[in-house]
Amino acid sequence: MRILVVDDEKFNLVIARDIIEANIANSKLILCNSPEAVMDLLAQNDIDIVLLDIIMPGIDGVEVLKRIRSNNEYKDIQVIMFTGVTDKESFKLCFENGANDYISKPIDITEFIARMQAAANTRKNTLMLKEMFNKMADQYNELQEVTQKLKNTQFYLIQKEKLASLGEIAAGVAHEINNPIGFVRSNLETLEAYLSRIKISFSAYRNFIELVADQNIVQDLSHEKLQLEETEKQQKIDIVLEDLEPIIKETQDGVDRVAKIVRSLRNFARTGTDDEMVMNDLNQIVEEALLITRNEVKYIANIAKKLGEIPTVICDKGQIGQVLINVVINASQAIKAQNREGLGNIIVETYQDNDYVVCKISDDGPGIKAEYLGRIFDPFFTTKEVGSGTGLGLSIAYGILKDHGGELLVESESGKGTSFIIKLRHILVSEERLEVIR
Ligand SMILES: Nc1ncnc2c1ncn2[C@@H]1O[C@H](COP(=O)(O)OP(=O)(O)OP(=O)(O)O)[C@@H](O)[C@H]1O
Ligand SMILES: [Mg+2]
Repeated sequence: MRILVVDDEKFNLVIARDIIEANIANSKLILCNSPEAVMDLLAQNDIDIVLLDIIMPGIDGVEVLKRIRSNNEYKDIQVIMFTGVTDKESFKLCFENGANDYISKPIDITEFIARMQAAANTRKNTLMLKEMFNKMADQYNELQEVTQKLKNTQFYLIQKEKLASLGEIAAGVAHEINNPIGFVRSNLETLEAYLSRIKISFSAYRNFIELVADQNIVQDLSHEKLQLEETEKQQKIDIVLEDLEPIIKETQDGVDRVAKIVRSLRNFARTGTDDEMVMNDLNQIVEEALLITRNEVKYIANIAKKLGEIPTVICDKGQIGQVLINVVINASQAIKAQNREGLGNIIVETYQDNDYVVCKISDDGPGIKAEYLGRIFDPFFTTKEVGSGTGLGLSIAYGILKDHGGELLVESESGKGTSFIIKLRHILVSEERLEVIR
């Protein structure tokens, strides 16, 4: 403990020194009889306690105290006023200026030791607290650094995750598009080969017609007829003509599938506009969707309609129609996959549920296995065989409803059937707004 004793009277310095050295453990003393030297001594030595006389020639103790406290570095030094004055105003002034304690002169040894000891303890505790505070500050900085690193890592992981799903989607798209593109290309090659056969037959017919035109007289053309028939046979024209239609149909289907995937992806990326968001009657959209799917479903399931009285909703008719079609086709495909004897059952209901207008489509098909339930809305998740399902239907439907501020829910029990619940928020609109929307 470094203690600086400041007093203009040497006698006081000596007494203070003797008592301190004898009673305060580990103390190092600096004695000073000139108040002007205090600031220099503080700067040169690491002082813990200052014992400061008040009345001194030149600068008095209160002034020295003010100078000490004006330096932030010395704010924790214990300053004890060492004084013969007893008036309260002087004490008040000292405490107001940052004194920690006072010791009266003439010295009472017991009081002197007790107060010095208390100052030493306070100083020790202050230093300990300071050290702890510094340690905590270091730890806080370390923590900040670690947090920042964690944030960076998290950001990196999220980016990586995004890239991974982007990669997955790209791989899925490539896989899905590859197949139709493959048969479209092979169909085009076949069509090209067929075309050259048709050309050959065609030119044979043209030659024949020219021959007939040149010869005005009727003559036996059976030879030419035989020749033509031979050409047709060689070029397999019957087969070619028969094949043309299905090839074109298949090619169209392939192109449609690619277009569907591309459209779905656009939907997935949500680049759609809000242009089509207008007031619609969900019951009407249901009717139209069922009309479109009728052909596909009629030999597989009976459809029971239970359309309730529901308010109009603001939605994109085309997109909601797409959702309904996807869900109905899924139900029909699920029932079909069971290869059951009779027809299955699909129930399409509409009703109002508080703020929502709901369309519930239930089937008594095979249901969805519990382990798949969490994945059916993932893009490219399908249990259908390669080439027959893209696995995009429900993910698109989910995206569409999310864009509408609605919900797409599923309830299913394996072996019993499945219900998809399509919820659209119904907003109460004033007549005036209705006019605007119309
Ligand atoms: N009604 C249902 N009953 C049983 N399983 C269903 C039903 N609806 C959907 N699923 C399951 O959810 C999967 C994902 O459906 P989704 O509509 O997204 O794709 P998909 O029908 O396989 O292909 P896509 O719709 O692109 O032709 C289906 O493969 C099927 O396993
Ligand atoms: Mg589907």
